Amino acid sequence: MTQSTQTPGAHTALDAAPAQLPVAVIGAGAMGSGIAQVAAQAGHPVVLVDSQDGAADRAVAKLAGTFDTLVSKGRVTREDADATLARITTHTTRDMTTVPPVGLVIEAVVEQIDVKRAIFRQLEEAQAPTTVLATNTSSLSIDAISGEATTGHDAALHGGVSPALAHPGRVLGLHFFNPPALMKLVEVINGAASDPDILAAATDLVRRWGKTPVRCTSTPGFIVNRVARPFYGEAQRMVADGIVDAATVDLALRGAGFRMGPMELTDLIGQDVNYAVGESVWHQTGQDPRYEPTAYQRDLVREGRLGRKSGHGVFRYDDSGTPLDATPDEDLAARLVGGPVASDPVARTIAMLVNEGVDLVHRGEATAEDVDTAMKLGTNYPKGPFEWLAEIGGGTVRAQLEELDAAYPGGRYRPSEAL
Ligand SMILES: NC(=O)c1ccc[n+]([C@@H]2O[C@H](COP(=O)([O-])OP(=O)(O)OC[C@H]3O[C@@H](n4cnc5c(N)ncnc54)[C@H](O)[C@@H]3O)[C@@H](O)[C@H]2O)c1
Repeated sequence: MTQSTQTPGAHTALDAAPAQLPVAVIGAGAMGSGIAQVAAQAGHPVVLVDSQDGAADRAVAKLAGTFDTLVSKGRVTREDADATLARITTHTTRDMTTVPPVGLVIEAVVEQIDVKRAIFRQLEEAQAPTTVLATNTSSLSIDAISGEATTGHDAALHGGVSPALAHPGRVLGLHFFNPPALMKLVEVINGAASDPDILAAATDLVRRWGKTPVRCTSTPGFIVNRVARPFYGEAQRMVADGIVDAATVDLALRGAGFRMGPMELTDLIGQDVNYAVGESVWHQTGQDPRYEPTAYQRDLVREGRLGRKSGHGVFRYDDSGTPLDATPDEDLAARLVGGPVASDPVARTIAMLVNEGVDLVHRGEATAEDVDTAMKLGTNYPKGPFEWLAEIGGGTVRAQLEELDAAYPGGRYRPSEAL
């Protein structure tokens, strides 16, 4: 884990005791309501804000139901559950200048840059200059939200709608994973202007909330959504090329310790949701061929084969969500694994995961330790990219990528300079 870089004596709003650090969570959807639960359980007074009539109250009612279940299972005492719920109040508004004064805001509204920018501007207008403003965005640039970005894609995102914040130093990303109450990982994301003391204090706060923070710059996809791309992309390419069928590629990767194969996992996530993340990373990297989404997945989305939720994705599902046509060919899996890298689903996928992790660290965007932690906690990988690198060896990974690059020229498989 990245060490705290906070200079001794540098105080931020986030250093206050929980009862003295009120938190506003903007957006009472899947993520916002979970984040509100985490903050309230840590002892903070929380105001849950949503623009839709009744949304915040419905979220709290749902939370009350969750706590009833936890109490009945003996996981939480009735007293703690009641105290946590009593710390959460709700507020319905579109106008963020009406949010009561707090020490920390965590925004979790729709993933739209113009909506988020407007919210941050209203918050800055009404909240004290010491209030820390965090976003739970999974794909947008922190600098585009605070208005600091002036070049390239980020500048295009400005759309000339609103000026930069006056105090961008207090803006950062706190990227929780779904569901926030259960997932340990939080990516703490710094924009170009984020204040190092605030980043360090936010990292410590997340740890006090019982989470495992990792640090990353505001790079497309951050750690998890960036490094994980080839886990899906390699399997899709191999299936599209007729090297292996979908059920067998899943079997091979489960055999390597992954909890789910890429095909069943994208069917669970939703092919549309997974495709959108891939597209976003691809566009934000200037259409780097390494991240180019596959025609295979685009066609699934176009055909409405979205996965379990639509009853048909890569596989067909019955009403209980059981796949009907996911029968792997065990002999084929055994023949492919350990063979030439281009037709070995495991070696090919892991070489690409290592390449991504190494490249991210090489560019100074995260530490190797944080990359490993993030991939194991955020995606349940059996090992982190650097653990695989240590096992396989940089020379072997580079040779595997060069073999792939020769078989499929175009830049997708170019080895990181750091290999
Ligand atoms: N769902 C995930 O797995 C996940 C994981 C990590 C991060 N995220 C990010 O978290 C954010 C929220 O995602 P979600 O899945 O909870 O979305 P959601 O659609 O479940 O909830 C969004 C909520 O925001 C409210 N909202 C929309 N515009 C608003 C506005 N102007 N002011 C106040 N409230 C407004 C909506 O009424 C809705 O209740 C997004 O930025 C998303 O990228 C999502």
